Amino acid sequence: MFVAGNNPIEKIKAEKDGLDILQEIDKIAAEGYDKISAADVERLKWIGAFLRKKRPGYFMIRIRITGGRANSKQVRAIAQISEQLGNGVLDITTRQQVELRAIKIESVPQILKDLQDVDLNAFQTGLDNIRNVNTCPISGLNPNEVLDAYPQAVEFTDVFLKNKEYTNLPHKMNVTITGCQDNCTHPESQDIGLVPALKMGSGPIEKGFNVLVGGKMGSGGFYNAKDLDVFVQPEDAAKICSEIALLFRDFGFRDERTKCRLSFLIQDWGIEKFRAELHSRWKAKYGGSLSRAEADQRSDDGTNHLGIHPQRQPGLYFAGLSIPVGRVTAKQMLELARLAEFYGSGEIRFTPQQNVILTYIPREKIEALKEEPLLSQLSPAPGPLTLGLVSCVGIDYCNLALIETKGIAVQVVAELEKRLGKENISSLRMHWSGCEAACANHHTADIGLQGIKANIDDRIVDAVHIFVGGKTGKNARSGEKIMELVPVTMLPDVLELIIRNMALLKKVRRNTEAEKRVVMVPMDYAA
Ligand code: HEM
Ligand code: SF4
Repeated sequence: MFVAGNNPIEKIKAEKDGLDILQEIDKIAAEGYDKISAADVERLKWIGAFLRKKRPGYFMIRIRITGGRANSKQVRAIAQISEQLGNGVLDITTRQQVELRAIKIESVPQILKDLQDVDLNAFQTGLDNIRNVNTCPISGLNPNEVLDAYPQAVEFTDVFLKNKEYTNLPHKMNVTITGCQDNCTHPESQDIGLVPALKMGSGPIEKGFNVLVGGKMGSGGFYNAKDLDVFVQPEDAAKICSEIALLFRDFGFRDERTKCRLSFLIQDWGIEKFRAELHSRWKAKYGGSLSRAEADQRSDDGTNHLGIHPQRQPGLYFAGLSIPVGRVTAKQMLELARLAEFYGSGEIRFTPQQNVILTYIPREKIEALKEEPLLSQLSPAPGPLTLGLVSCVGIDYCNLALIETKGIAVQVVAELEKRLGKENISSLRMHWSGCEAACANHHTADIGLQGIKANIDDRIVDAVHIFVGGKTGKNARSGEKIMELVPVTMLPDVLELIIRNMALLKKVRRNTEAEKRVVMVPMDYAA
């Protein structure tokens, strides 16, 4: 068993389990915001309530939606909570979750109950917990997938949710379990990534997962997950994830916060030692040996599943609708629920690209769906830059943000699509993070923007560092930083130049031997 580490969050967890706050929430809510201790502000993250320091007295509630799959009843409940107890603004996150804004602590018990009534929850969505388990948002519908991994995502979630064996990890854990070949959940950046694999023995081909471990994004930079050299059948998927989480719990580093992710344990031990330790725990608990990795079925590309496409079920279609930068109003959510019921199965799926998918639409209803007014806002065929646009929350609500992100991202992309002509540009993934924490995964985007403040003649302005050439998939790599401190007002000009030269810039690589920095300065601004 682990020993508590030496950092402020470890001290808070050592005093009592974060989940215990659930028993105290009625009292905390009754006493009001002013009485909440600093330690309880952190503990509230175990039940999904995040104080937004930028808006004193107001919380964000992060709703866990396993694999992004929700139904119209749940979406309607979320929209109603937002209208009645929040500010009518909702954010879809890159972990397929939904965030409620501007919530008072007095409302939290009622919201937890309302969520429970529709089989939703917000537990363990922050701090040192296993975060929302991601899976391909068209799992079970995709004609090309190796297997539908949603049942395994649910099974693993059932293991750790409200289970105190898993509520004091050294840091957060991001997990994806996917049978999709198209890397839509970027498994290479997750702490645990189960990816589709086929075992081709002498008997029938077996479908299952290879296991990747120790991926991460963030201030220490992107770290490509290591191949654990393990193949698991679907029935063992939840077990292998649980054992990796417990190994991390027991041996993960617990001192310097920035060095606590699983990645650092694996870098320290080496992947062979990590595998050997996992193997001996597996043997002791389940008997038998861990199998070696089998044929990895991932393609080399990423996708976002936007547009209207046939499902594997004959005559039925799914509609992937773009939500620019993931922000919707409660009214739009209510309308989505109506459309899902009227045209499809009532299901609504959220994607890791902050978009939404309606499912099981009969062929004969597609034309009418396309004519719905909501689809002029949330389009199945957005512009080439809009469809790959992802943004973190930025300065609107995040106290760590250095710049505004969502609004400026939408403006800049609209301007670029106008200047370049939608028909002249190939689609690309542009991700905006408001600071170096990199919550929008900007390191793996075609164009990644990281917010920073710049000083121009003693005037502090919003600016970005620009990264180009990031890639998800089997051969994932981090983008190269090609420009620093570019004021956001210059972005339409600078990004126009970059996009025009994208093919070349994607090849730019730092000369690591000489540690030579490649900095591009457009001629107009060189003076
Ligand atoms: C320096 C470490 C980090 C800090 C302090 C941090 C902080 C935050 C904060 C404050 C938010 C909530 C903003 C809001 O919606 O109001 C957030 C959201 C988020 N962050 Fe980070 N973050 C960090 C690192 C990362 C990393 C490395 C990733 C992985 C890519 C990540 C992924 C996310 C995601 C996906 C969300 C949206 C909520 C969700 O679905 O989980 N963050 N982060
Ligand atoms: S990247 Fe920075 S600004 Fe954006 S949500 Fe994460 S911590 Fe906040």
